[in-house]
Amino acid sequence: MIDLFLDRTQEGMLNGEQGEVVQRCMRLLTRLGEIYGAEKMIPITSAQVAGVSYKSIGDPGLEFLQDFASKGARVRVLTTLNPAGMDLKDWKDLGFPADFAEKQNMIIKAYTDMGIKPTVTCTPYYCGNLPERGEHVAWSESSAVSFANSVLGARTNREGGPSSLAAAICGMTPDYGLHLDENRKPSVVIRVSADMKAYSDFGALGYWAGKQAGNGIPYFTGMGPASQDMLKGLGAAMAASGAVALYHVEGVTPESGQDVSGLEEVAFGEAELEESYRKLGSGHEPDIIIFGCPHASIGQIREIAEKLKGKKVRKKLWICCARQVKQQAEEKGYVSMIEKAGGNVVADTCMVVSPIESMGFRTTGVDSGKAGNYLPGFCRQSVVFRNADDLIREAIS
Ligand code: F3S
Repeated sequence: MIDLFLDRTQEGMLNGEQGEVVQRCMRLLTRLGEIYGAEKMIPITSAQVAGVSYKSIGDPGLEFLQDFASKGARVRVLTTLNPAGMDLKDWKDLGFPADFAEKQNMIIKAYTDMGIKPTVTCTPYYCGNLPERGEHVAWSESSAVSFANSVLGARTNREGGPSSLAAAICGMTPDYGLHLDENRKPSVVIRVSADMKAYSDFGALGYWAGKQAGNGIPYFTGMGPASQDMLKGLGAAMAASGAVALYHVEGVTPESGQDVSGLEEVAFGEAELEESYRKLGSGHEPDIIIFGCPHASIGQIREIAEKLKGKKVRKKLWICCARQVKQQAEEKGYVSMIEKAGGNVVADTCMVVSPIESMGFRTTGVDSGKAGNYLPGFCRQSVVFRNADDLIREAIS
C-alpha cells in the first residue's frame, strides 16, 4: 500500500492546528487519499459544491451546514454553488411553497457565510469559475465535472458534496483518479453514424453511451461538429445514465487524438438514437415544458426566444439558467421576448432539484437526456422527451 505523504502544514491541519473544522475536512480528504492510493495532496484552484437544494439535503443537511459555518468554516479557493430548489428571487410568483423557501434561504446563508459564491448553477463556467486546461479543481456536480474534464481539459474527480466542500476549505485534494495522466485514457470507442442535429439528439446519445461505458472513458468518432452546448448535454446525460466523468470527441475535445487501437468499439446509429428517444420519453401531453438542463447558455436562451417570437404558449414553459446568465438575457431583451410569449426564465434552480411534483406537475417535457433520465425517479414525473422545436409546438398548440 502506498503511503500518502503530507507536508508539515498538512500534518498540522490534520492534527488540529488550524481548528476543528479544518481538521475534520483534512481527515476526510486524507481518508479518501488512502482509499484511492494517492501519494500526495495537490492544490486546487476552485471548487464546485453540490448539496444545495432543500429538497435534496433536508433538515439534516441544513443543520450540518449551519453548524459548520458557525464553527468558522471558510473556503480558501474560489468556490461556487450548485442549483438551489427554487428561484431565489421570483420563487413566490413561480408558485414555490413559502416553508420550502424559508429553509432554502437558510441553506444559502450558511454557504455564503463560508465564503462560497452563491452562483447557484450547475454551469459555474458561465459565472467566473472557468478553469483552464490542466488546472486541478474539486467539483461535485456530475455534469459540470464532465464539462470541466472533457471540454475544458481541467482535472477533477467526481466529488461528493462533502468532499468538494472539504477540498474548498483545505484548498487541496488527494492526487488520484482523473488528476493523473494515466487515468485519462479512453476505454471504449463509440462510432456515431446517427444524424446528430438537435440538442436532444446529444442527450439521447449520452443516455445510451453512459449505459455502455459505465464509469469508463468513451472516445467518440464520427460525431461531426458539436457545439459546446451539445457537448454539455451529451456529458450530462452520460454522467446520469452511467458514471462517466470524462470523454473525448475526435477532433473536438482538447485531449482527443489519443491512441484507440485495440479498444472495444460500439456503434450508435439511427436505430439506437430512436431507441433512446423511446426509453427517455414515457409520457404524453406535458403540463410543463422545461429547457435548461444543464443550465442554459446565453446562446440557448436566444434560440428559444427566437423560436417563441410572435407566439403564445398555452402551457407553463420555463428556461432554467444561472442568475448571471439571466441578467445577460435581460440586457439583450431575450427575457422580455420569452415573457411576452408566456414563458419564464427561471434562475437558480432546475426541473430536477425543485419540488415540481408538489407544485402540481405530473408530466414534464424536456430536451435534456439527463433530465429525462432523472425526472421519473426524483420528481415522480412522466417525461415527454423531444427536440426543442417539437416541444415548443406542443406548448403553443
Ligand atoms: Fe443542472 Fe439540474 Fe440538470 S442541476 S445538470 S439542470 S438536473
